[in-house]
Amino acid sequence: MVYKSAPIRILLLITATVLALTANAQTNASTEAKINALIKKMTLEEKVHMIHASSSFTSGGVPRLGIPELVTSDGPHAVRREHGRGWSGLNNVYDSGTYLPTGVCLAATWNPKLGYAFGAVLGSEANFRGKDVILGPGINIIRSPLNGRNFEYQSEDPYLISKMTVGYIKGVQDQGISACVKHYAANNIETKRNTVNVNMSERALREIYLPGFKAAVTEGNVNTLMGSYNKFRGQWATQNYYLVTQILKKEWGFKGAVISDWGAVHNTLEAFWNGCDLEMGTDLGMLPNPNYSKFFMGDTVVTLIRNGKLDEKILDDKVRRILYVMYKTNMIDGVRKKGEYNTKAHQQTALKIAEEGIVLLKNDNRILPLSSSIKSIAVIGFNAERNQAMGGGSSQAKAFYEVTPLQGLKSIGGNKINITYNQGYRIERGATADNTLITQAADAASKADVAIVVGGWTHGYNYNVWSDNAYDAEDTDKPDMYMPFGQDELIKAVIKANPKTIVVLIGGGPIDMTRWVNNAPAILQAWYPGMEGGNALAKIIFGQVNPSGKLPMTFPKTLEDAPAEKIGMKSKDLQQLYYTDDIYVGYRYFDTYKVEPQFAFGHGLSYTTFEYSNLTVQGSKKKVTVTFNIKNSGSVTGAEVAQVYVKQEKSTLPRPEKELKSFEKIMLQPGEQKTIILTLNADAFQYYNDIKNEWVLEPGVFDILVGGSSKAIKLTGKVTL
Ligand code: BGC
Repeated sequence: MVYKSAPIRILLLITATVLALTANAQTNASTEAKINALIKKMTLEEKVHMIHASSSFTSGGVPRLGIPELVTSDGPHAVRREHGRGWSGLNNVYDSGTYLPTGVCLAATWNPKLGYAFGAVLGSEANFRGKDVILGPGINIIRSPLNGRNFEYQSEDPYLISKMTVGYIKGVQDQGISACVKHYAANNIETKRNTVNVNMSERALREIYLPGFKAAVTEGNVNTLMGSYNKFRGQWATQNYYLVTQILKKEWGFKGAVISDWGAVHNTLEAFWNGCDLEMGTDLGMLPNPNYSKFFMGDTVVTLIRNGKLDEKILDDKVRRILYVMYKTNMIDGVRKKGEYNTKAHQQTALKIAEEGIVLLKNDNRILPLSSSIKSIAVIGFNAERNQAMGGGSSQAKAFYEVTPLQGLKSIGGNKINITYNQGYRIERGATADNTLITQAADAASKADVAIVVGGWTHGYNYNVWSDNAYDAEDTDKPDMYMPFGQDELIKAVIKANPKTIVVLIGGGPIDMTRWVNNAPAILQAWYPGMEGGNALAKIIFGQVNPSGKLPMTFPKTLEDAPAEKIGMKSKDLQQLYYTDDIYVGYRYFDTYKVEPQFAFGHGLSYTTFEYSNLTVQGSKKKVTVTFNIKNSGSVTGAEVAQVYVKQEKSTLPRPEKELKSFEKIMLQPGEQKTIILTLNADAFQYYNDIKNEWVLEPGVFDILVGGSSKAIKLTGKVTL
């Protein structure tokens, strides 16, 4: 490096910035010119061909003009198996790839860098597989523990979602692949998802349900967005003027393409007028070779434009958006990256995310990590040896391999430990406690040094068996929060046989643990941890990895405590949902209404301890700086997620007890201390006043609460703005 004086460096920086901006502007202008030229050359039919599907996962191309099809693929945690042009699936193709932990496990890492790494793996594998768009991330708010798709989503908190989502999107798109953030908006339950109408206040919409999507657009520059199945305030979300045209395109300036969820378009006019750019998956009832021009945005649009009933300019806008996405990802000119498939590095990313995402919920008497003197372990539970990758619906992943918890424990534990396995319960429709299996399991537990029960939720394998005890799966919701298949009885019997019992819970969210939680010394929440999940879990259990995951959602004690169920309302036929829980989703409810959760939002234990000290809060409306120290006061290296919550002491409209506004994950050696400096911008203090219909920053005193979970607040400061 050559040394240059400060003024010269500044001058060089300014010149470089100006040149970059000019180059960017020129590129934009030249791309725009290319797009306009292409549109001019297109016939009406060709344009219309581009705004609907041409097969199960592609849009129509115009080969005459060198415009390819847009090839989409699920998403969100793997590149899905090949379906060919129909739905039947292709055999004998190399389509088993990296199976990453699902969205909720990613969010539990609270590590945006891993969000980026996750996206980069997907982008790279999508390139290798010849895909242009990955249908993910899924970011709907986790409002109710019952939602069958919570495992694909991320959090109950819009700030955490925003941070993780922007990382994911940039990771995908830096590989030259488009991300598709979904499902916009208010698709928070699967029951009647195709017909249900969601009603909520403007404040809940702005404060809770939209910020993740807004961040995806304005910070992540996401190329595409998927409109959801449900209705919103009486109009289908994908064809909803307010959501799509007004907010997404006008307010946020979204330049990319709005893709319908598969079968979410219901009529031509609304879809065409209100901002849907690409219609996918409409059921024409004549599979396997449907005539795609019969889609709502097919031949009918041609006829209506010819008859002067629809404006061709609106069609041009849709085509322009699709072409914009294509140019941005080098699909028409430019060079595509080749991508990589099933590399060690991709598998290591899957491992790292699982290691950082698994949450240690409870660890009485430090039973974990297991001591090296352990000689025998009784592993119990169907989930210990169940492959989960192909479960869940459209997010099913054909995994290159999948390490189950049992395999992980055996390989990381080594052959010095005698590991036995008992199934413990059956996952069959309506199965209740099986006394024979329970007796066998308890017997094995009584003879071992330690018992590990791996249970929890499960998800159905494929489309044909979704309804068979699917639980965590698309198009279905959980009937309640109770442990299925008689697992309560099993866990109680195992704990009785061996008090040194560790419970590992697989699943997309909370389960009712009230029948045994006080007697289980250790509990781990493992989500669906991906292809390396078994290894990650075992490394945590044996102490090779110090857990650092934190809950991205509140775990209520019982379903009755969950706000969506307690204060949310629905019509008897479940066609109308009223989000009367309003902004009080997750911890915003539990903390404000003083309801004790089973495990709080942001909670997660470590094998070490952390001390927080020396909080200072300084600043003005534009920028508040929060500074504090964190020290690893224990004896092993570990990472802590320091969380900063804001509470306004007095406001015109009521506000939640606290709201997450910043966080940072910090790795510390034993005895090491670091000073953390976090910045809160004006939006950290604002709320949406739906009387004035605007974001407001009301002057007053704000408490700044810093700690290791929403309930473990260690430091409190104040700032007056
Ligand atoms: C799901 C989407 C998915 C699409 C394509 C729909 O049923 O809701 O998330 O991307 O199918 O498989």
